[in-house]
Amino acid sequence: RQNIKQNVIMASAVRDILPCRSPAAHKGMNGRLAVVAGSRGLSGAAAMTAEGALRAGAGLVTLAAPASLQDILAVKLTEVMTKPLPETATGGISQEAVPDIAGLSAASDVLAIGPGLGRHEETAAAVRAVIAAADCPLVIDADALNALVGYTDILSECNALPVLTPHPGEMARLTGLSSQAVNADRINIARQAAAEWGSIVVLKGARTVVAFPDGEVYINTTGNAGMATGGTGDALTGIIAGLIAQGLSSHDAAVAGVYIHGLAGDVAAQAGMVGMTATDLIKAVPAALYGIKS
Ligand code: APR
Ligand code: MG
Repeated sequence: RQNIKQNVIMASAVRDILPCRSPAAHKGMNGRLAVVAGSRGLSGAAAMTAEGALRAGAGLVTLAAPASLQDILAVKLTEVMTKPLPETATGGISQEAVPDIAGLSAASDVLAIGPGLGRHEETAAAVRAVIAAADCPLVIDADALNALVGYTDILSECNALPVLTPHPGEMARLTGLSSQAVNADRINIARQAAAEWGSIVVLKGARTVVAFPDGEVYINTTGNAGMATGGTGDALTGIIAGLIAQGLSSHDAAVAGVYIHGLAGDVAAQAGMVGMTATDLIKAVPAALYGIKS
C-alpha cells in the first residue's frame, strides 16, 4: 500500500491533458454524447447534466428522457437534441426503453446515465440492462448508482472502464457502510471500491477523491461550500462525459473533470458563494477551461 501513489490534482497536469481545439474543428470532431436522465419531477437533473456536457465542450449532445418530459426539455435546452423514451406509469423510463438506449449508445462516444431517473424498480432494472449492454464508455451517477446496489458485478461486463460518481450517501448504499463511515476513510474506501468493481470511482464531497482499480488515487482541491446545492453533481456528470466525448480517456476525464468542475464553482463563487446555483457553475465552465489553458 505504501508504494501506491496519492496525487493532488495540479492545474499544470489538467492543462496537459485537456484537449486542444483545432482552429479547423467541426462539431463532429468534438464528440457525440448521450445523456439518459430525468423522470417526472426531476427534469432539471437531466437538463443540468446535458448543459454541463455542452459547457465542457462536447460537440453534439442528445438527451434521452421519459416521453412526457420531452416538450419541457426541448424548450429548456436549445442546443440539445432530445429523444423521448417509453416510461412507467410513475414517469420514469421503462424496460421498453432499453433497446432505444442501446441504439443511442452504439451511435455515441460516451453515455452519461443516472441523474433524476428516480428509484422505481422497473427503471432500475432497465438501467442495469443498459449498463450491461452499452457499447461506449459510461459515466454512472445518482439513481443509476442506486440501481447498482447489490448488482455491482455487472460493472465487469462494461467494455471500457466505467466512471462512477457517488456522493457519500450513494457510496454508503453501494458498500453497505454508513455515510459517516465512508467519510471517515474516504481515500481507502474509494480505492477498495475501484479495485473491487473494476471501475473509476469519483467519491464526491469537499476534496473529491478519484480512485482507479490499480490503487492510484487523486485528490481534488478546487471547489467550495457554495457547491453544496442541488444539481452541482449532475453538472459534474455532464462535464466528465463531455471530456470523454472530446477524446480524453475515462481516466483523464475523471481527473480533469473534477478539477474543472471545482474551478467553475470557484469562478461562480466570485459573484457570491452563498446563493450560487448549479446553473451558475455550469455557465462558468468555459471561463474555468480558459483559465486553465491560458
Ligand atoms: N466543497 C467542495 N465541493 C463540494 C462541496 C464543498 N463543501 N459540497 C459539495 N461539493 C460538490 C461535490 O464534490 C459534488 O461534486 O458538489 C457536488 C455535489 O454533488 P451531489 O452530492 O451529487 O449533489 P446533487 O447534484 O445535488 O445531487 C443530489 O442527486 O445524487 C442524487 O438523489 C441524489 O438527492 C441526491 C441528488
Ligand atoms: Mg447527485
